[in-house]
Amino acid sequence: MNKILLSGVKPTGQAHIGNYFGAMKQFVDLQKSGDFDCLFMIADYHALNLIQDKEEMKKLTLELALDYLAIGLDPKKSIIFKQSDVSAHTELSWIFDTIVTMPYLMRAHAFKDAEAKDKEINVGTFNYPVLMAADILLYNTDVVPVGADQKQHVEYARDIALKFNHIFKSETFKLPTDLIMKDVAVVPGTDGRKMSKSYNNIISLFATREQITKAVMSIVTDSSGDIPVNVYAIHRLFKTEAELKPLYEANKGRYKTLKDALVEDIDAFIKPMRERREKLAKDPKKVIKILEKGAKQAKKIADKKLIEVKNSIGVL
Ligand code: TRP
Repeated sequence: MNKILLSGVKPTGQAHIGNYFGAMKQFVDLQKSGDFDCLFMIADYHALNLIQDKEEMKKLTLELALDYLAIGLDPKKSIIFKQSDVSAHTELSWIFDTIVTMPYLMRAHAFKDAEAKDKEINVGTFNYPVLMAADILLYNTDVVPVGADQKQHVEYARDIALKFNHIFKSETFKLPTDLIMKDVAVVPGTDGRKMSKSYNNIISLFATREQITKAVMSIVTDSSGDIPVNVYAIHRLFKTEAELKPLYEANKGRYKTLKDALVEDIDAFIKPMRERREKLAKDPKKVIKILEKGAKQAKKIADKKLIEVKNSIGVL
């Protein structure tokens, strides 16, 4: 039997190449490997912590579905679904709430970061890891491919699974493990810091050639060395060291030439995905159908698990 793989992304707007190389590319590679039964989720209930506007939520959800399909996730091979379509997620989350302690959740990095910014944190943000544990554990997931920032959340899912099994003297949940591709886990942005929307240093994953050019020209270079470090770091995502060596040796100090080459390489890479996305965007009904089918498939698995859970806790 294949191993089960599940991952999710929050629909919070424009995917960038940091999201892609940090996590989404792995989704496609893993799907292609044929070694896994894959589930890819749109974590809309997680996003509800941030996106509290009807039109915005609808738009961002559809956009993420387009992103998933454009990068090559295939509804014939994988289950692609929206978290809110499968009510077992929130139901299991409540059950977990009753065995997870507050001090334990207070140790979460994401909670501490959020609290440092604003003390008036909502309960959903506090509870974020619990819902994510439910996402993962409902499907007997073996492997969770995520960016490095999500490692702790997968550990929470493991802990919660163990605790549940222990308290209810059952083997209800399988223990998942994370899968993090180390060498690409942190993608540098145009200013050399981690690529992140909040730093305003992103290159959008479906950027037009003009947008790519604009982003690349804004890459911060200092004039102290022959090689523009930030340009090279981004270039390495698209080409191997061996491919880049002759280019960078022949163009020492010529930052403009190197940036032009980078634009070319990014555009060549993005173009087929961009075109696929544009085509799909013209047919939103098709996308909605894909999500409906995914919801049905996911529900079947999740509802069965929830019955097992209800049995274990004695409400059934
Ligand atoms: N927390 C993840 C993120 O912000 C998204 C997510 C929600 C997720 N549920 C998940 C990832 C389950 C993996 C598995 O990126």
